[in-house]
Amino acid sequence: MLTNNKNKASKEGVDERLFYPATQKNRECIGEELAKLLPKSGSVLEIASGSGEHGVIFQKLFPSINWQASDPDSCCRESISAWIEHEGLQNRMAQPIDLNVRKRPWQLSLKLQSSIKAIVCINMLHISFWDCTKALFEEAQNHLRKGHLLIIYGPFKKDGRHTSHSNRVFDCSLRKQNPYWGGSRFKRSNRIKPQKWICKT
Ligand SMILES: C[S@@+](CC[C@H](N)C(=O)[O-])C[C@H]1O[C@@H](n2cnc3c(N)ncnc32)[C@H](O)[C@@H]1O
Repeated sequence: MLTNNKNKASKEGVDERLFYPATQKNRECIGEELAKLLPKSGSVLEIASGSGEHGVIFQKLFPSINWQASDPDSCCRESISAWIEHEGLQNRMAQPIDLNVRKRPWQLSLKLQSSIKAIVCINMLHISFWDCTKALFEEAQNHLRKGHLLIIYGPFKKDGRHTSHSNRVFDCSLRKQNPYWGGSRFKRSNRIKPQKWICKT
């Protein structure tokens, strides 16, 4: 599930790219939904970019946007940089930044702060503590202006119910690993309610 499959046999030899199997499955449906929601220009800050596979795909899919990937894990940031290089995006996509949603206030460069038009967070909230969810929503509010979107994707419950059997099974397995993880925590807060569900997993 949360495996870091390091590429050891690329054509170019060993590099730092990580491969997350889930991204192969979900990138198309996420891309389709993002196409409906993202602005036409400006910067999109991706929180918890992980391997960077989504980042490079979406940078190519939305060339008029500056896709800013981030992750607190240095291995992930190395992987994101390796993916940027592998895809030949060095001149179009910024290097990933070190951003942990819990370390507040977020330190974003002035350039990013002035151009940010959306924040995207894929598959982080269900594997992190509740305060990460709160931090994401509160900091996003500080950095986004009216009309700009915080877009989250993950295996969440909707109206108190899992959206698929596989999500129910996944939620149980996450809770066994850590009782503070899982996708049903939005019901804990009346103040944090996503306005738009972009995709069912
Ligand atoms: C399941 S991976 C998802 C990666 C990627 N978004 C994807 O869907 O393939 C979760 C990611 O969340 C990141 N993460 C965990 N805690 C975080 C935090 N407090 N702030 C920001 N990112 C965090 C991890 O480093 C990891 O890369």
